Amino acid sequence: MNRFNRRDFLKSGAALAASSASVVTASLAQAQQAKIRVGLMLPYTGTYAQLGVAIENGFRLALSERGGKFAGREIEFFKVDDESEPSKAPENANRLILRDKVDVLVGTVHSGVQMGILKVVRETGTLHIIPNAGADDATGALCAPNIFRTSFTNWQPSYPLGKILMERGLKSAVFVTWKYGAGEEALRGFKEGYSKAGGKMVKEIFLPFPNVEFQAQLTEIASLKPDAVVCFFAGGGAAKFIRDYAAAGLKGKIPLFGAGFLTDGVLDATGDAAEGLETTLHYGDGIDTKRNNAFRLAYAKTFKLQPDVYAVQGYDAALLLAAGLDAVKGNIADKPGMIKAMEAAKIDSPRGAWTMSKAHNPIQDIYLRKVVGKENKVTGIAQKALADPARGCKML
Ligand code: BEZ
Repeated sequence: MNRFNRRDFLKSGAALAASSASVVTASLAQAQQAKIRVGLMLPYTGTYAQLGVAIENGFRLALSERGGKFAGREIEFFKVDDESEPSKAPENANRLILRDKVDVLVGTVHSGVQMGILKVVRETGTLHIIPNAGADDATGALCAPNIFRTSFTNWQPSYPLGKILMERGLKSAVFVTWKYGAGEEALRGFKEGYSKAGGKMVKEIFLPFPNVEFQAQLTEIASLKPDAVVCFFAGGGAAKFIRDYAAAGLKGKIPLFGAGFLTDGVLDATGDAAEGLETTLHYGDGIDTKRNNAFRLAYAKTFKLQPDVYAVQGYDAALLLAAGLDAVKGNIADKPGMIKAMEAAKIDSPRGAWTMSKAHNPIQDIYLRKVVGKENKVTGIAQKALADPARGCKML
């Protein structure tokens, strides 16, 4: 031992450092070659099933346009059908994070389910991208560095609608929706814009999610005779509401408006009943740009389906993840690097380029759209570069 002098010690230390550095380099290289584990927690059954499928399709399209890899790394998907069922949300999110060990959790559609996911990703610090659910709190009071959204807040598309109604001289309105987070927050957003513009709410009418027996609500609307009806419905329920509204004889008598989810992805199921309906949303089929036209063509070719707002949001979720991974050269374990790049990303979206707010929600144009045949045609911009107020977010 005594013969082991300072020179030997330094030599052995250097050898040890060199060998542990090569272990670190090797394991980093290995980590960079392993597949990135992407959890998809989406509804694949129930009234929002089509929305979940469109989001996944959009995500996969962006991936295939990049040769099936982000920053040189292949992607492995782990899927859970969340059934739009809030009570199962924490268990489903934990299954992806703890059992499947996903690097990033992408989901979901339903705001109530989203609240359950938020609890889990805030506790675990899992990188999270929301490709639809508008729950205001996700980028409001519950905002966090690891939580990003590529869609909207429930407030965002509904707020500009109030001013539009008043410009048409529609001074009184009834709002009808499912009674859960998204409907209630869309109503709040609409009410804020409408009352600011001088409009008067006549009544707020609710029914349980995902109920589609609308007869009682339509009878009440007919007897109240407001200047306009505004609603939040989406997916299969939206198609049924549009058909029932026309069948009840209200179409043409009391104009119907809504956040654009009302008419997105449902026009094959509504027939003529949707013709002429006007809505506000951050996307429109008819956005006539090279970017949107190329996206629509590629989506239609790949999936034999027309894309909608949900497909765009899924596509953009993939673009956002790719932006993060490009910046850290595929090393998704570099969370601060990923977050910094995702915060700074400018997403070249089919909806038009958008950037992230400080609360991690898109700052985006809200379009005014009108149903013409099978298309949501863009007729104007309801509000340019609208940022959600992100009330209660501590990252502002
Ligand atoms: C939501 O629950 O946040 C939601 C669902 C469908 C369309 C838009 C929002």
